[in-house]
Amino acid sequence: MAFGDYQIELSLGALGGVLPAHPFDAADLEQRALAALPPELQTYVAGGAGDESTQRANVAAFERHALVPRMFRASAERDLSVELFGRRYDSPLLLAPVGVVGLCTPDQHGDIHAAEVAAATGVPYIGSTLMSDPLEDVAAAAPEASKWFQLYTPKNRDLAASLVQRAERAGYEAIVVTLDTWVPGWRPRDLASGNFPQLRGKVLANYTSDPVFQQMTGPDPDPGTVVMTWVGTFGHPVTWEDLPWLRSLTDLPLIVKGVCHPDDARRALDGGVDGIYCSNHGGRQANGGGAALTWLPEVAAAVDGRAPVIFDSGVRTGADVVKAIALGADAVAIGRPYAYALALGGVAGGVHLVRSLLAEADLVMAVDGYPTLADLGPEALRSVHL
Ligand code: FNR
Repeated sequence: MAFGDYQIELSLGALGGVLPAHPFDAADLEQRALAALPPELQTYVAGGAGDESTQRANVAAFERHALVPRMFRASAERDLSVELFGRRYDSPLLLAPVGVVGLCTPDQHGDIHAAEVAAATGVPYIGSTLMSDPLEDVAAAAPEASKWFQLYTPKNRDLAASLVQRAERAGYEAIVVTLDTWVPGWRPRDLASGNFPQLRGKVLANYTSDPVFQQMTGPDPDPGTVVMTWVGTFGHPVTWEDLPWLRSLTDLPLIVKGVCHPDDARRALDGGVDGIYCSNHGGRQANGGGAALTWLPEVAAAVDGRAPVIFDSGVRTGADVVKAIALGADAVAIGRPYAYALALGGVAGGVHLVRSLLAEADLVMAVDGYPTLADLGPEALRSVHL
């Protein structure tokens, strides 16, 4: 079945008197989900760094690229599949690591539900270090899902090694090391409302369940000890000197997230990483950097096919997915939208979001005459000034 056939399913449902239960439009989804979330999560998920101009630019940047329609190339069959690290996936879509997704569903098991969305759709889920359930429980709850583990490198190297080994043992298929968040960015909305879930002891399940972290806190720690131990170890500022050590931690594919400069991409590949993840963390870390999409073509050119390039930040539609591929990404991740979809509609809402994005991407490729991802290169796009 083609991804685009989701529209037939929805239309047949409507003929039978059942209208879709979940939103289609990203802004509508955000608005309705925020109304469903408690105030402290609203600012944490929706907010970003500084005056949030980078966050807005991430989304707006997609409109400055126009896909060029090509006719007489119509194809009833499309192929959105991609090979990443030796495994074939039906689509290039991924669920980005979102640290508070665990809190976004009323039962506080949002990490498990994100993995369930992955299992239902075939789209890999990248689990954050910051989970509400231990990574083993998330893996066990959705054994069918393709799961990758995102590491926030702690200061304690034994803890880093332990987290990576646990992820390996639990069946996670890749390690994504996030480089841009060893210190939280300046986030006025959260500062104004006193919001930082981790400082309230939330989303620390991967730490409290870890034997190395347990040694650091001592037995039966009170909540204050847990939080202060976490604060003390959370963010190691990773430098090039750390790369050989990070590489030595695992034989799984090692991906580095937050890379926006071609020299950084090249040097990371020379240092043995297997994938480059171009992202500005959805504009949550450093304001003033402009759209992440701006950096993608140079990063992809520097990688030059040596490794997969993953992109996120500002992806809101299926057409955005297609444009990011045309600008050089091999795979494209969504962040905030799936947190909103889970908050509003649970697993069914998340599945609807993923299926809708893939249906739109498939149908855009169908109509515009780009039947496979390989057909999408820079010549498929024109820069436009709005
Ligand atoms: C994130 N992101 C993130 N990234 C990461 O590597 N580890 C993490 O734990 C988190 N946590 C997190 C929480 C929340 C609430 C958000 C919104 C984002 C960043 C995420 O992986 C991705 O880079 C951005 O979400 C992409 O931006 P958009 O498209 O969501 O705006």
